[in-house]
Amino acid sequence: MASCLYLLLAFYITFSQAQPFKAVNLGNWLVTEGWMNPSIFDGIINKDLLDGTHVQLKSTKLQKYLCAENGGGTSLVANRSIPSDWETFRLWRINDTYFNLRVLNKQFVGLETQGNKLVAVSNTAGDPETFHIIRNTNDPTRVRFQASNGQLLQAQSETSVTADYGGSVSGWEDSDPSVFIINIVRTLQGEYQITNGYGPDKAPKVLQDHWNTYIKSEDFNFLSSNNISAVRIPVGWWIAHDPTPPKPFVGGSLKALDNAFTWAEKYGIKVIVDLHAAQGSQNGNEHSAARDGFQEWGDSYIQVTVAVIDFLAARYANRPSLAAIALMNEPQAPGISLDTLTKYYQAAYEAVRKYTQTAYVILSNRLGPADPTELLSFASTLNLVAIDVHYYNLFWDGFTKMSVQQNIDFIYNSRSNDLRKVTTTNGPLSFVGEWTAEWNVKGASKEDYQKFAKAQQEVYGRATFGWAYWAYKCASRHWSLKWNIENNIIHP
Ligand SMILES: *[C@@H]1O[C@H](CO)[C@@H](O)[C@H](O)[C@H]1NC(C)=O
Ligand SMILES: *[C@@H]1O[C@H](CO)[C@@H](O)[C@H](O)[C@H]1NC(C)=O
Ligand SMILES: *[C@@H]1O[C@H](CO)[C@@H](O)[C@H](O)[C@H]1NC(C)=O
Repeated sequence: MASCLYLLLAFYITFSQAQPFKAVNLGNWLVTEGWMNPSIFDGIINKDLLDGTHVQLKSTKLQKYLCAENGGGTSLVANRSIPSDWETFRLWRINDTYFNLRVLNKQFVGLETQGNKLVAVSNTAGDPETFHIIRNTNDPTRVRFQASNGQLLQAQSETSVTADYGGSVSGWEDSDPSVFIINIVRTLQGEYQITNGYGPDKAPKVLQDHWNTYIKSEDFNFLSSNNISAVRIPVGWWIAHDPTPPKPFVGGSLKALDNAFTWAEKYGIKVIVDLHAAQGSQNGNEHSAARDGFQEWGDSYIQVTVAVIDFLAARYANRPSLAAIALMNEPQAPGISLDTLTKYYQAAYEAVRKYTQTAYVILSNRLGPADPTELLSFASTLNLVAIDVHYYNLFWDGFTKMSVQQNIDFIYNSRSNDLRKVTTTNGPLSFVGEWTAEWNVKGASKEDYQKFAKAQQEVYGRATFGWAYWAYKCASRHWSLKWNIENNIIHP
């Protein structure tokens, strides 16, 4: 009896710890993604005007959009009927009501050095580039801008945008040249937005509460009793600067990550630490903690990013639950070149290997126009590595027209083929580090979701390192593995 138990236990441990993993992403825990839990932003004043909010501004008098001519480098005009990139401004939030506006070529809108004309020429934002946004309380899409000279902006004519309005501010009529309609065309709700949105007094409390309640020890118990053998934990670069990260980021998430290792060890789960947000932003998305959506990570950021990996490897190399360190989530092509990326991967790989010979190192394929096999020969020169690919039947128009069966066929045919290309016999392992049961099919039944998830488990189960569902918890329920398990849709 005892030996039988022992055998069972040994089997269980071997079985539960070996690749391929059935893993889940602890997304939106240590790196904020607002769409996964929108209510956490509710306490922010002007919560629709966060860092990186892309706005277009229409003069009510002229019925024309403000435009940074040439995308920046010269004056502002107000003569465009149809807004596009030059007519789109990215907010930098100073506080609840003061903002900078960044244009396509990355200059800031400001007052010219001598005079009241509006230009977009400065690469940095100081007082002349700071504007007080005054909203109409009855219709917050109507705004006025007060410049640093104390005057309000006005679109006097299509070619004259100045900060010298002398008229009345009692009304918000269309004929008033100081009134603009603010159209929000893109929003970001990531770590930068939540921390800078709440500001230094409130953000630490909001974030600490979130870290302490979103994921707990009992979640690891739940996962382990449902056949999940690993968690992939997205982290941001600022975690390596805990307890005092650069503003606006907040310290304390390192403690939460330490706890995750402790809970993982208690429940026999492995941990994959994933650098989701690199300094400078490797893809411009909110989950890479971009301030305003520009992708700026590149050669000049390699050293600081390797230092983050070095920090994580040094701290966790000897934790028995460490399975892998993923060097960078979703670098975006063509902004990040293959050459820069492999230079970084090589240096970061060596940083990990200073501390551990047994942890895997995970290399994410580039998103965007890139050959999915481009890392294979490079990866073959390294030990214990896996290539990370993310498969969603989303984010591409082609999926919106697919039926239930076409989606499922796509998994068995196209995805299966894609995965085969990165699953080699002697090279790196393959890892489907993100997938979900959500899709674009409208009105799908529970059985449809079950079949779609099952197809993906079957195909992604062939990945030699395993798969990881996105995500464990999510306000959009089909994205939540917890919800899918509790509602009998997914059986890992
Ligand atoms: C807008 O005004 C600028 C500056 O005068 C001019 O160069 C440009 O051609 C105008 N564009 C339109 C669409 O009127
Ligand atoms: C917001 O920032 C502006 C510009 O720096 C400053 O003048 C103002 O006092 C600030 N307001 C608050 C409430 O801190
Ligand atoms: C765990 O996986 C095994 C083997 O596939 C299966 O028999 C069992 O039902 C699963 N357990 C749960 C709770 O899903």
